Amino acid sequence: MNKKFYITTPIYYVNARPHIGHAYTTIACDTIARRQRMLGADTYFLTGTDEHGQKIERAAEAAGKTPQEYTDEVSAQFRALWKRMGITNDDFIRTTEERHTKRVQELFRRIRDNGYIYKGTYSGQYCVFDELYVDAVEPGTPCPECGRPTETVKEENYFFKLSAFQDKLLQLYTEQPDFIRPETRRNEVMSFVRSGLRDQSISRSTFSWGIPVPDDPKHVIYVWFDALANYITAIGYGSSHEGAREAFKKYWPADVQMIGKEIVRFHCVYWPAFLMAAGLPLPKGIVAHGWLLFEESKMSKSRGNIVRTETILDVLGADALRYFLLREVVFGQDGSFSFDALVQRYNADLANGLGNLASRTLTMITRYFRGEVPYPSATVSQRAGDSAIAESARRVIAEYSTLVDQYQFSRALEVAWSLVAAVDKYIVENEPWALGEKQDEESRSRLATILYTSAEALRIVTALSHPVIPDATSRIWAQLGLGDIRQFPLSDLKWGQLQLGTKLGNVEAVFPRADKSAIERMQKMEEQQRSGATVTEAHPEASTAAAISAVAPPTAPSANAATVPVSKISIEDFAKVELRVGQVKVAEKVKGADKLLRLEVDLGTEVRQVVAGIAESYAPELLIGRKVVIVANLAPRKLRGLESNGMIVAASPEGGKAVLASFLEDVPVGTRLK
Ligand code: ME8
Ligand code: MG
Repeated sequence: MNKKFYITTPIYYVNARPHIGHAYTTIACDTIARRQRMLGADTYFLTGTDEHGQKIERAAEAAGKTPQEYTDEVSAQFRALWKRMGITNDDFIRTTEERHTKRVQELFRRIRDNGYIYKGTYSGQYCVFDELYVDAVEPGTPCPECGRPTETVKEENYFFKLSAFQDKLLQLYTEQPDFIRPETRRNEVMSFVRSGLRDQSISRSTFSWGIPVPDDPKHVIYVWFDALANYITAIGYGSSHEGAREAFKKYWPADVQMIGKEIVRFHCVYWPAFLMAAGLPLPKGIVAHGWLLFEESKMSKSRGNIVRTETILDVLGADALRYFLLREVVFGQDGSFSFDALVQRYNADLANGLGNLASRTLTMITRYFRGEVPYPSATVSQRAGDSAIAESARRVIAEYSTLVDQYQFSRALEVAWSLVAAVDKYIVENEPWALGEKQDEESRSRLATILYTSAEALRIVTALSHPVIPDATSRIWAQLGLGDIRQFPLSDLKWGQLQLGTKLGNVEAVFPRADKSAIERMQKMEEQQRSGATVTEAHPEASTAAAISAVAPPTAPSANAATVPVSKISIEDFAKVELRVGQVKVAEKVKGADKLLRLEVDLGTEVRQVVAGIAESYAPELLIGRKVVIVANLAPRKLRGLESNGMIVAASPEGGKAVLASFLEDVPVGTRLK
């Protein structure tokens, strides 16, 4: 059986819109998840939104909305953004979902039953911004995390016996040195724990936007207890359904939980203590990265110095942002963002680097060898330069993998791109275009060797960097005539796999050069956003504009959606209907609509949101994991403000309840019905 791999991002607060700080963690996790899938691991990647607590309650109030309306709106923005960025999360958990709230109560109950929760009175300071109890008595004491004045809180609370876990935690950090990475963060945590742990209040009773404490609903559960629990509730901990609990058994403990450095204490002290108290296994490792800085300070929604992800997607595309963040920022340390640096990096490494290598190599193969990969001659004119490329490719494969597995993305990409530079130099020195003009056997054979060597090096960089820049590399892979890159077993990657005679696909540029106007455009879009001017958000299709066009167009919705069915249709007509096997990943009720369920259905190549009128026939929890039939090429439409992208096939007996079409045998997700 394949190894499993479970990875999580923090769940983001919905008190404001997402920015590239959130994108950073999400991209790093997506890269790891994609790599693990290519390595054959049974991967589960979770992200979501953190929606309870006083801070969110106040943000909703300020926006003139109910907390539920407000969180629905902002959470949907996160979800839509990740979708647009090609993030491959397997689930998206919202802490206001019933599947979460019930299971959090279950966890609370279990810890209480184990004797680690007691009632007391908290009197002290609280920072609403960080949702943090601050160890101080003086009213207005600045929060040690963010410097904002704290508020005085005196209320009856439930307490968690954190003090009972001091020794066990220290033992954990010692015995499992990889529990907290990097080392600097581990040292901070250890000295914090050594200095002594006090019991921690884990409920609030002076506001109501939270999960009620079981059997004592005057209290709501402290938002950090609620939020941390998402990592297990999302995969079925505490569910009453056997099927849902299976996922928990399979995936927990998490292999990697990635976070920003400001929430290390919550994840490395409270979280393992809660799990110990519940008698549950601990995550294998918490990895904390540094901050993205903009204009010298931490990019944050409250400071207002944020850069929106959408702006970069509109102008340069998702791959540019992904590559930049992972290449430019030394993982674990803080790193600055600027539009200048982004465009410079994009042009140097992507347009002039990988993009140029791909187009010149593939264009020459098309021109000189009718688009078929030529094979290097074993006997004629092998030169030292050829084998040097092969050697450096072998070294790059080994080093890249080691570095990525240690989260050193920047070094890993640097190493991979050293191969791009070496091949560029090799091409320039060997002047294949001059050889291409000659017809003698010696020249043809030499040309074949040079182009094979270049194409093989290109293939290797493409395979390695796919998890970082998925869109462009998928296209280069197809241009190399190799099909779907996601199916390539990365652990087998080695020099010399490119087969003689492989027929190339259509060659086209993947990273068009960006000019100066790209920088100005992005700066302008952000300025307008900050000054409150409304910027219409371009749909990916409409976003090509002057500077560049790097976004893959979404599939066109089918025309003629309103055609009236006729009694007999041709097989061609039927073939227009794309029926596929999908698997339900998420199912939930649609607020205010008794009949509707919102589903997220995995079609193998993508996860679709489908809104279906089956709420009266099926409880959402029973649908999770179920295989269904989806009409996959139906034009999208909106139901209750939610986009429905496809239709679920069901029998609708007269006057009875809908019955979903299903299979008696197991069928792979994505299979077409015809
Ligand atoms: O803390 N640089 O949510 P949050 C790098 N809900 N990463 C950044 C960043 C920046 N400037 N800004 C945000 C919360 N991030 C809680 C978490 S988890 C159980 C609950 C990323 O919306 C980074 O991952 O403040 C950071 O830890 C996270 O967003 C904080 O998001
Ligand atoms: Mg924060």
